[in-house]
Amino acid sequence: MSEHQILVDLPGLDRLMAQPAHTLNLEPVQYSLLTRVFGGVDTPELKEKMVKSIKELGPPIERLFLNEAAATAAVERAGIGEHAASFVTFCTDPGRMKRWELSSNVQVVKPDSPGSSGMVEADLQSLVRDFGFCMAVPQLYGKDFLERNPELLNDFWKFDNDLFPLLMIGMPSWAPLNIIREGRASRSRLMAALETVYRQVDKVQQGEPADPEYDVSDVSFVLFEKNKIFARDGWSLAERAVADMPILWGQNANTQPLLFWFLTYAYSTPGLISRIRKEIAPFVKLSDTNPRCISSLDIHALAKTCPLLKSTVFETYRLTDEAASIRYLERPITIKDGSLTHSLKQGTWISVPHSVTSHDASVFAEPEKFIPERFLETDSEGRPVARYGRLRPWGAGAAMCKGRTFAEREILAVGAAIISLWDIEQVGGTWRLPDMIPGTGVKKPVKDIRVRITRRCT
Ligand code: HEM
Repeated sequence: MSEHQILVDLPGLDRLMAQPAHTLNLEPVQYSLLTRVFGGVDTPELKEKMVKSIKELGPPIERLFLNEAAATAAVERAGIGEHAASFVTFCTDPGRMKRWELSSNVQVVKPDSPGSSGMVEADLQSLVRDFGFCMAVPQLYGKDFLERNPELLNDFWKFDNDLFPLLMIGMPSWAPLNIIREGRASRSRLMAALETVYRQVDKVQQGEPADPEYDVSDVSFVLFEKNKIFARDGWSLAERAVADMPILWGQNANTQPLLFWFLTYAYSTPGLISRIRKEIAPFVKLSDTNPRCISSLDIHALAKTCPLLKSTVFETYRLTDEAASIRYLERPITIKDGSLTHSLKQGTWISVPHSVTSHDASVFAEPEKFIPERFLETDSEGRPVARYGRLRPWGAGAAMCKGRTFAEREILAVGAAIISLWDIEQVGGTWRLPDMIPGTGVKKPVKDIRVRITRRCT
């Protein structure tokens, strides 16, 4: 029987978590998620392949999503400034709507015309989350991946919202419940889509042309590098798809809901939108056309020189992200805790629920309140900067989130682009934020928020 120890508010936690994998190991957690949640079949062969390949599967992801220049370039390639102009299209025909509008129950309240700005009502969470997904996914899997799998978006959120939490808490995947059956069907379609893209990548890597109807020209180097390792270590195409599920999930399951909360807090806090607009104006250039669009978006500057925007994002992490770090102890360790000494045995587990600190009033005063300036500090030259302080939205130590640079750049860029072009208010005129469903990452709203969206008027 293994033991599980929970570490809360431990002095020197960052130092402890920095221990290498031969002491604090994430791999058993990853294997368990792969087989319990992401659809891998637990066999000695799969375990052996994981052990062989896992160390080499991570670095390509870090090169795209963690490296600052590469992550910024990936977010730039997404064309967020351009797509934000069609965040809502004012179309009533689903055939002419953008993909991200299709699940958000868009209704045109007033048509849009050159002389008169239109108005739509929509479900904000669905709209923002799907917009973010459509920006992020092609950076990893190419544009074709979304276009040829029209159900991918719905399947992803069905898997994430319905199946994932049940399997995480130990519900068997054979349980005779509709929610499980349908969630598994969504997961199977996601895996089939991943298998198809790996099949094309594999063909190209073996010197054959991809299927004529499939365009792999913009599939990221990450898949090509991982495919080499998969092929070398004997992974079947179906197993390659399973191994990629955590990456597709990790890229979107937290980032897109976070984006929704960020925009919700920003628009619902009196005066904040105009302060953010003022701060970001030099970096989000708008055209003189009618309607206005974004002529340039400086993502690097948003990350480096917009402290209020960043502090607002950090405060959103604090209130909505329930990050946790779980590790398996490969060797015994001793932890000093003031006058106490704890001896943790080899073969046990530790969990660090970082969100306990995020809500601790002795660390963050009035923790239940949204305070956009909370993370603002002054640097040595007297300029305001946003600093994390004790906040740990990305986990801790060597196995900290490998997508954090990309995630933050995406949130800043999408957030800034939408704020620059659109006015949003809750239907009824008064913002009332929904309760949050606790979970394993960024919380989801209990129900969506119905909003009215118009073109920015100031
Ligand atoms: C707001 C968005 C995100 C949040 C809040 C978030 C949070 C986290 C957290 C808390 C962990 C666990 C770290 C630990 O165990 O200490 C993690 C791991 C991870 N995340 Fe993220 N993440 C986000 C976006 C992304 C994105 C965009 C990617 C890109 C693919 C990504 C890839 C990963 C990977 C690969 C790991 C496993 C790290 C490892 O194996 O060493 N995440 N993330």
